[in-house]
Amino acid sequence: MAFPASFLDELTARNPIEDVVGQYVSLTRRGSNLFGLCPFHSEKTPSFSVAPDKGIYYCFGCHKGGGPVNFIMEIENLDYPDAVRFLAKRAGMEVPEDTEYRSTYRKQERLRALSKEAARFFRAQLFSPAGKEAQQYLLRRGVSSQTVARFGLGYAPDGWSSLLDTMQKSGYTKEELLDAGLVLQSKKGGYYDRFRNRLMFPIIDVRGNVIGFGGRVMDDSKPKYLNSPETIIFNKRKNLFALNVAKKSKAGMLILTEGYMDAIALHQYGFDCAVASLGTALTEEHAQLLAKYTQQVVLTYDGDEAGQNATRRAIPMLERAGLQVKILRMKGAKDPDEFLKKNGADAFRALLQKSENQAEYRLQSLKNKYDLHDDAQRVSFLREAAELISTFSTVVERDVYGRRAAEAAGVTPEAMKQEVSNAYRRRIAREKKRQERVDLDLNAQQQPKEKGIHYDNLRSAMAEEQLLAQVLKDPVLLPEVKLLPEQFSSPLLGRAFSLLLRCQQEGRPVSLASLEGDFTPEEMNHLSSVARRRDALISEQAISDCCNVIREAYGRSVRTGEDALRAMQQQFQHKKGYGG
Ligand code: UTP
Ligand code: MN
Repeated sequence: MAFPASFLDELTARNPIEDVVGQYVSLTRRGSNLFGLCPFHSEKTPSFSVAPDKGIYYCFGCHKGGGPVNFIMEIENLDYPDAVRFLAKRAGMEVPEDTEYRSTYRKQERLRALSKEAARFFRAQLFSPAGKEAQQYLLRRGVSSQTVARFGLGYAPDGWSSLLDTMQKSGYTKEELLDAGLVLQSKKGGYYDRFRNRLMFPIIDVRGNVIGFGGRVMDDSKPKYLNSPETIIFNKRKNLFALNVAKKSKAGMLILTEGYMDAIALHQYGFDCAVASLGTALTEEHAQLLAKYTQQVVLTYDGDEAGQNATRRAIPMLERAGLQVKILRMKGAKDPDEFLKKNGADAFRALLQKSENQAEYRLQSLKNKYDLHDDAQRVSFLREAAELISTFSTVVERDVYGRRAAEAAGVTPEAMKQEVSNAYRRRIAREKKRQERVDLDLNAQQQPKEKGIHYDNLRSAMAEEQLLAQVLKDPVLLPEVKLLPEQFSSPLLGRAFSLLLRCQQEGRPVSLASLEGDFTPEEMNHLSSVARRRDALISEQAISDCCNVIREAYGRSVRTGEDALRAMQQQFQHKKGYGG
């Protein structure tokens, strides 16, 4: 990472963690720390903490943590260098740019400017004589001029180089247009416009940058939609259409659709919280992005098989991001756009109000799976329904859905109730057993929560965590730690230790915030959890105890290593003896 350390230290000093976080989260002081509702997962009681003395935040619920740069990366969806720039701007500091960063950043800035100008060009074309047909198409589809303006819709003329020529006149090169995905190169090497004779939908990120385009034909030719390819500014996995508008909605939810036209129609009919994915399946990144702006997502995917499969796939993903999921199902229309045209906003609002939570949705899909006229299938349905209903968390839910399932299968509510409570007991017993196994497995408990980080030697790693926690609490203790970084059993903790030593040697602050650029966000999450260990004792005795544990484990691992080496050598000589 190429920002100078002195600059980063000043950046951290001038962006106190409590101020940076305080702009996004309302914090209340509790002792020396501050607490608030975690902005990264949905919760009702605060488990998100800020420790001003350590310069870090840490959520005891979702285990995210780090310094101010990590926080900005996470909450503003920025990569490391951009988060640094963001904080520098906040504190009114000049960024000493590394040449490599400067060049990619410049390139991105240039492509963003280029895309914005391309969007302007397309828009101007829509209102020119060449755009007449496109205007008529929009009119036919009932898209108002206000909607056209709000989404910056445009038209790509029916030529091979309309955009290419215009943009070149504005000083952009063919290569830049290629990098932006707006032109293509033929086999002979010539350049030509990617989007021709299409209605253009600019894709705008949450910060308002045009990052790509979708283009629709105005007849039945194929492909119906053409999208910009992935570029250095356009990542389909991380962006959603119309989120730049929907993020300001006061609706308290986001409506997720499959199509640009669906999102647009919803906005036009007053549902300003609609977004669309970009012609790709929903990703974990999308789910996390949504979770930054809302706690509730309503899925309005198409009613066809593909749409239903997509819905089924999306539910667990959205739930993992802490979102409450509802499913809105339409009858007599294939998608929201069509539904609104046919039935109007009130009908959609009514659907939205009774949009099913997934309890209903799941029960419904279960019903569809079985032929309830067939006795054997009815029994299977009831068994599976009882399993499902037994997972519902309240008595009322279990009662309501139990009755519904009973009715569907033509059995008495009492019989169903019995089935559900049996299933409930079986499940509780299973869960209890599983919990017992987990409890017994201390290993599983003490392993890092962060995926991809694993301790090979738990006993030593626990001592290493203790050490780091103590040193981070009270850096003057660092010289008491008479260990070499290699002696740490965990490479991650060893690296943190060695970097802290270096900070101290260089007279930089000995804190996690000083190390933000040296670790991935996942590693920082874990290191923050280490720094926030509630059980860190501070004393020279505790330090030397920890050191002993680590040294001993290290000694044993070296001996094991040596033994292995000796064994190998012996085997080798043995073999040689045979052969020779
Ligand atoms: P739909 O065919 O459902 O589109 O595809 P739509 O938004 O309802 O469009 P209209 O009403 O026919 O104008 C849903 C989404 O899938 C992607 C686009 O993102 C589209 O919005 N898609 C579809 C493509 O990327 N390419 C295609 O050829 C078709
Ligand atoms: Mn449609």
